[in-house]
Amino acid sequence: ESIKIFAPATVANVSCGFDIFGLAVDNPGDEVILTKRNDNKIVIKEITGDEGKLTYDPEKNTVSVPILRYLDKIQNKTGFDIILNKKMPLGSGLGSSSASSVAGVFAANELLNNPLEISDLLPFSMEGERIACGAAHADNVAPALLGGFVIIRSYEPLDFIKINTPDELYVSIVHPDLEVNTKDARIILRQEAILKKIIAQTGNVAGMVAGLMSSNYGLIGRSMTDYLVEPNRAILIPYFNEVKQAALETGALGASISGAGPSIFAFSQGKEMADKVGQAMKAVFTAANINTNLFVSGVN
Ligand code: HSE
Repeated sequence: ESIKIFAPATVANVSCGFDIFGLAVDNPGDEVILTKRNDNKIVIKEITGDEGKLTYDPEKNTVSVPILRYLDKIQNKTGFDIILNKKMPLGSGLGSSSASSVAGVFAANELLNNPLEISDLLPFSMEGERIACGAAHADNVAPALLGGFVIIRSYEPLDFIKINTPDELYVSIVHPDLEVNTKDARIILRQEAILKKIIAQTGNVAGMVAGLMSSNYGLIGRSMTDYLVEPNRAILIPYFNEVKQAALETGALGASISGAGPSIFAFSQGKEMADKVGQAMKAVFTAANINTNLFVSGVN
């Protein structure tokens, strides 16, 4: 018995929502093929698309750790063979590790006839994230699991909510061929912030949620400033300011780092504008001789 599951790439933080906002895109994503075994072993049979970078040790790979924790929890001893087809770059800021974590545990739950609700799979997927970057943040795994735009209201206890987004909201993502390690990109963050910045940031978080839920594109755009994290991380991404500027000048609602970077995303109203914005962003990297992938997707 076998199943093939796709889990999408995700944009975490979405400018002002560090560790609390995330959204899923249509593509790229990872594919996991899970097959039941006759014994109780978890075996990673094959990994493609990772340039040999990922471990086959089931206790250390983000695809298998969530499955192991999940089987422990439901006290089930089924064994699985795992094939992981990485269809997106590692260390890209597109939630690559999350897509694998989510696809794996989702596939296991399906093959076992869904003993748990989909949303109950989130804590296990987060364990994959802990393996990948040392912190079990949920802003990639939650949207990869649930689709759409997800808010993590609280981590302890875990409380998350999927909200509706406007029909015409599109995201353009450029992924320059550079690698940023999420662990490093978290270590450099300042642990304290001054009240003035916290006020500005929470204003934007509230504005973003209100803008998304009322299809107010102007409000979404005005809310897309990150005072707390982007200023520290922008230095890790060459041409960040130029790319952001190109997006805004072309007509994007706003732009920021996707997750921990180096991918950069922009929101636009309408697919046509999102395509134009994406091309303009890509052109900045291309002019600097940096190979770049462009993805344009709806947000719902
Ligand atoms: N919220 C996380 C971070 C996402 O920015 O570190 C990492 O993909």
